[in-house]
Amino acid sequence: MSKALDEVLRQEVDKRRTFAIISHPDAGKTTLTEKLLLFGGAIREAGSVKARKASKHATSDWMEIEKQRGISVTSSVMQFDYKGHRINILDTPGHQDFSEDTYRTLTAADSAVMLIDVAKGVEAQTVKLFQVCAKRGIPIFTFINKLDREGRNPFELMEEIESVLGIRSVPMNWPIGSGRELCGVYDRMKNQVELFQGDDHSHIEVKKVSDYNDPAIREMAGEYLHDQLCQDVELLDVAGDPFDYEKVRRGELTPVFFGSAVNNFGVQTFLENFLELAPKPEPRQSTAGLVEPTNEKFSGYIFKIQANMNPAHRDRIAFLRVCSGKFERGMAVKHVRVGKEIKLSQPQQFLAQDRDIVAEAYPGDIIGLFDPGIFRIGDSLSQGSEIVFDELPTFSPEIFAKVTVKNALKHKQYQKGIDQLTEEGTIQVFNTVSFDDTILGVVGQLQFEVFEYRMKGEYGVDVQLQRVPYQFARWIIDDKIDPSKFRINSLLVKDKKDNYVVLFENEYAMRTAMEKNPTAKFLETAP
Ligand code: G4P
Repeated sequence: MSKALDEVLRQEVDKRRTFAIISHPDAGKTTLTEKLLLFGGAIREAGSVKARKASKHATSDWMEIEKQRGISVTSSVMQFDYKGHRINILDTPGHQDFSEDTYRTLTAADSAVMLIDVAKGVEAQTVKLFQVCAKRGIPIFTFINKLDREGRNPFELMEEIESVLGIRSVPMNWPIGSGRELCGVYDRMKNQVELFQGDDHSHIEVKKVSDYNDPAIREMAGEYLHDQLCQDVELLDVAGDPFDYEKVRRGELTPVFFGSAVNNFGVQTFLENFLELAPKPEPRQSTAGLVEPTNEKFSGYIFKIQANMNPAHRDRIAFLRVCSGKFERGMAVKHVRVGKEIKLSQPQQFLAQDRDIVAEAYPGDIIGLFDPGIFRIGDSLSQGSEIVFDELPTFSPEIFAKVTVKNALKHKQYQKGIDQLTEEGTIQVFNTVSFDDTILGVVGQLQFEVFEYRMKGEYGVDVQLQRVPYQFARWIIDDKIDPSKFRINSLLVKDKKDNYVVLFENEYAMRTAMEKNPTAKFLETAP
């Protein structure tokens, strides 16, 4: 590569930040995303959450089912520029029942922003998503939202983050007052106060101070709130964790920011600090060792496939995360799994519903590739060498249902739908060993609803789902498998690759089976 090109690639990598916002529904993710997009000028007007609730769809929502339910099911990607950075926000579905897709999308992120409602603290969905991020060891930044409302004590929230999630935290700013008394936040790193002014809190003023003892704060916030601030920050200085960049990078310490997304309070300082501290695209593990983003050869992997995003076109889009090199429209790359060269001629970039054709992209970017049915989740594409990125994680299903087609004449479409939706990762499919029944496994109930809806809408097939009482799936590896051993409170099935899997009704049944089969290995996910 010429020196000039090398330099361009390095600069493009340096300015990119690709992250996901993880939160429990209603914590304010849509609101925060909109505010960030507004700063970047990517949208002119916040489609304000109210408008979304009224028309039941947000800027980032796509499918019909989302509009009907007013939730976002699919993950979309939003790109914008801010002060020399190029930012990719991976929007993940927030509905508590829909998680598998979200989990996979998180593998494409280099860092995560964890959004917490100040009144509710760490909620169930946040825990699940956090764990997936923590497993990868990516940096996690925390935004504690809705500071304008009465909420919990910030120390209590920090304790909860540590006890529930197992990560230490370091507040980057600290609230001065709270709820109706909220007067502003004190920025511990930059020694400045951000003041929330006016009755409707519509005006924000930023002032430099010498430190938290500065009499100017007393003047602005009053004696009572200033005393409280001094006590709190002193305690943090003495007993809290110091800011440690390396720990943040390893995902061992989360910087915490307080603010209010809907009032745009603390959002800009959060964004600016985040951009400074969040990592640029990092090297990725592959069969050929670590792949540096600045490696001149293009490479990437597919983390999500979405069928029929535009019902009028009946197309499929494969979402690819660029891991190294420069992507150029029309370039020929190796589709490593099938061992063929393919031409990437119809790449698309996404900002919600607008689809732009991308001419070039760099590491950290997400591009959508038109998919005539040749891609699978986890596929690697690369220029020149045979790079295969580490397989995407699969998750153990927890809810199961027997599926049947209502009209037997539709069997062919039914099979096609099942095959495509399995490939997309919408559902996992198993067949019983004795009767050849089809059992679907999912992580969340909503995946069943999406499956039913899409089978009807996209393949014209009415299906019937009948819940079966299993709660755990274990892939079983043994020299000889005796089906008679798995009859009580369990069911022996095979996955699509003919691996044996046992479904268990409860933990007791699972433990008993493990004890009775000491030579067998029981795996949570496919080997
Ligand atoms: P989500 O995507 O995480 O599900 O949350 P979303 O942004 O839709 O926000 C959920 C609710 O929380 C919305 O209220 C929104 O206005 C509110 N909200 C978001 N940020 C803040 C904040 O900083 N302070 C306060 N007080 N509220 C906030 P809603 O009642 O569901 O809708 P609406 O009546 O406001 O339209």
